Amino acid sequence: MTDQNTDSERRIDTAETDGGVAEPDPSSAEPTDGESIDDESTDGTVSIAAPDIGADAAEQVQSVLESGMLADGPEVRDFESEFGAYCGTDRAVATSNGTTALHAALEGVGLEDGDAVITSPFSFVASANAIRLAGGKPVFADVDLETYTLDPADVERVLAERDDIVGLMPVHLYGLAADMDWLSELAEEHDLFVVEDACQAHGATIDGKRVGSFGDAGCFSFYPTKNMTTGEGGIVTTDRDDVADRAAGFVNHGRDVGSGGSYEHIDLGHNYRMTSMAGAIGRSQLERLPEFNRARRENAAYYDEQLADLPLETPTEPDGYRHVYHQYTIRTDDRDALAATLDEHGVDTGIYYETPIHHQPAYETVSTAAATLPNAERAAETVLSLPVHPALSERDRRTVVEAVRDHFHSQ
Ligand SMILES: Cc1ncc(COP(=O)(O)O)c(C=O)c1O
Repeated sequence: MTDQNTDSERRIDTAETDGGVAEPDPSSAEPTDGESIDDESTDGTVSIAAPDIGADAAEQVQSVLESGMLADGPEVRDFESEFGAYCGTDRAVATSNGTTALHAALEGVGLEDGDAVITSPFSFVASANAIRLAGGKPVFADVDLETYTLDPADVERVLAERDDIVGLMPVHLYGLAADMDWLSELAEEHDLFVVEDACQAHGATIDGKRVGSFGDAGCFSFYPTKNMTTGEGGIVTTDRDDVADRAAGFVNHGRDVGSGGSYEHIDLGHNYRMTSMAGAIGRSQLERLPEFNRARRENAAYYDEQLADLPLETPTEPDGYRHVYHQYTIRTDDRDALAATLDEHGVDTGIYYETPIHHQPAYETVSTAAATLPNAERAAETVLSLPVHPALSERDRRTVVEAVRDHFHSQ
């Protein structure tokens, strides 16, 4: 059995200052998750997402397959070290997907049955689902309409109304960090844990500090549409050894960390482990993340400039924040008609998310489902995401802009 890539010389480019736009790479259709992927254009369509795996990752996967260590092997341990280092945390625990990362992190911070956790109603349903899967109660506070992330002022309102809140789960939506300075202050003041849902924000920063390193734990997804992918996969980042050890045990049938494959189970746990193939892809993708994020930011800057004079809201990047544009999301009252025009021009779009979580049928029985959360509801009615992925060509970007401009000029 060979352990490829135990190399210590793999380094992650933290400066993210050079590199170009990745070439388009044909992608296959995937079942839908938080976002769907359409087939890469064979018919002039500009797709909403296009994962780019590359030859290096394929070679690494081949080595893993030849090694015979397919589950939770050395590639996964290396990926954990490298991803933790990238985020600036001491520890990282790889998982099977972003939802299991959130679940494991909540177990890691010690969530108990019935504990209430404030989170965003304007997110993929997995954010709140993870709280329920861990036995907790999601409590929704509204989002800020400019940033689409938890509004700390509304979190304060909820904290003033209830005395059962034990934690916060901010979501760094679309690639922009939530207001972690203010939320961390509230957490400190009210003695709350913070689990960041960073599933859409690999590499996003506030004043140079990366998401995943602000809270007690941070959680990432490596679903194919994300800024980097492992096919399916997730990871928990943390500076707390106790959180990392509990999460690592929880994702591995409750085994004691470091006991290898022993049949001693000190806790209840799941099999939420990452495969070695996913770990190998993750290491290669992490090396390319700076290049991917740069390309996303270049595409976003182009749209910002080209769409500035139109009657729509383009994304906000507050001072000191570095947005990584998992989505480039505009807001307009004319959303559905604009999406139809773009479709006619061969441009795919996405609505993330048309139904806020508190209005999902699966949330009818959850206590704060009846709450009025006007910004989340307004966002759900007006947001539209345009293709911003790294594989967009110059022509793709122009097609998107021309289609949006055509729509507003023909009115
Ligand atoms: C904000 C957010 N949280 C959680 C998840 C869950 O991640 P996964 O699909 O890998 O389980 C996603 C993925 O779509 C997400 O976008």
